[in-house]
Amino acid sequence: MAKIITEGKVKILIPSQGNRPIKSSAFYNPKMKLNRDLSMAVAREFFKNRASVKICEPFAATGIRAIRYAKELVSTSNLQPQTPNLFVYAGDIRSSAIEMVEKNAKLNKVKIETFRGDANELLTARKYDLIDLDPFGTPAIFVDSALKGLKANGLLCATATDMMALCGVAPKAGTEMQKYDGAKAIKCEFVHEVAVRLLLGLIARKSKRVMKPLLSLSTDHYIRVFVKFGNLTPHTPHPTPIQKNIGYVNYNPKTGKRSLSKTPKTGYKHAGPLWIGKLWNKPFIGNLLRGTGAKERRGADKKLVKILETIYEECNGQPLYSSVRELYKGKQQPKLSEVMKKFKATRTHFKDQGVRLKA
Ligand SMILES: C[S@@+](CC[C@H](N)C(=O)[O-])C[C@H]1O[C@@H](n2cnc3c(N)ncnc32)[C@H](O)[C@@H]1O
Repeated sequence: MAKIITEGKVKILIPSQGNRPIKSSAFYNPKMKLNRDLSMAVAREFFKNRASVKICEPFAATGIRAIRYAKELVSTSNLQPQTPNLFVYAGDIRSSAIEMVEKNAKLNKVKIETFRGDANELLTARKYDLIDLDPFGTPAIFVDSALKGLKANGLLCATATDMMALCGVAPKAGTEMQKYDGAKAIKCEFVHEVAVRLLLGLIARKSKRVMKPLLSLSTDHYIRVFVKFGNLTPHTPHPTPIQKNIGYVNYNPKTGKRSLSKTPKTGYKHAGPLWIGKLWNKPFIGNLLRGTGAKERRGADKKLVKILETIYEECNGQPLYSSVRELYKGKQQPKLSEVMKKFKATRTHFKDQGVRLKA
């Protein structure tokens, strides 16, 4: 049995057991709507002046994300799916998923090129302007291929749901973190920021190109990063911005002291190697809020706008946020708004009772 749901501008046929990865013919998770909405907003902003775009979605499942790119990217740009200057390639290892993608592409009258097989194969088959990695668990094992498949000035989007490993709480976290080239996670109050930095760190260590995170976030059960890539040119400074941005978190759980540094500081617990550079590009997020974000503001998804607004506020704060619980350990805890006023801090989207101190 299957049913049709609506999300964004598309109608998608989903199997009735779509939220059960193993049993269903193609996986569909309604909770990832926010992730997909954000991806559409970012892509529309990123490609607003491009004449032609090639998109790769190698973990397509029902095809909802690929079809949304095909349909929703055209509304604010010069791109047209039929006159071919917008090409969308959707892959999945399961034939039942590919059948679903093809049915759904027909249902929405968009042209999608499908591929049944391993993501690494599709990623390296040609060069793309946007690669969206949205696998089960970690995207780490697909990053090498994605970097090979990404054009200069391309956009890499990646979701990770292996939060137990990235937060250092998986029973075999050390083994799981081998996928992140052996980087170490750490248990701490600011663990979701560390998780994002670990994923960005892996991407940076594998890439030789200049990279700029445009938007990084943690919500629900996953983290998501959007990274713009340039190319190494003779004018790229040495050490490259990438090399300068790889380092460690230093943390003393007793004193609460924390910092980012190029090399691990003695007397502290460490996480890393990881990304110690900026997590966000404030002007880009401002554009999302003013331009494409405004579309979502009129729609139902207030959570998307709230996340973007909070990130816009916290962009300039100190790395490694704190929490009310931490700042008032053993004392009566005031309201978040009072703490923000006292410390001239902002909120952080990473944690409800979290505060980001002024840089
Ligand atoms: C989390 S789902 C993707 C959800 C989809 N991107 C969305 O937004 O609804 C992951 C998909 O990856 C597929 N998959 C798992 N391993 C794969 C591999 N090595 N290569 C390609 N597809 C794979 C699964 O069959 C599943 O459909």
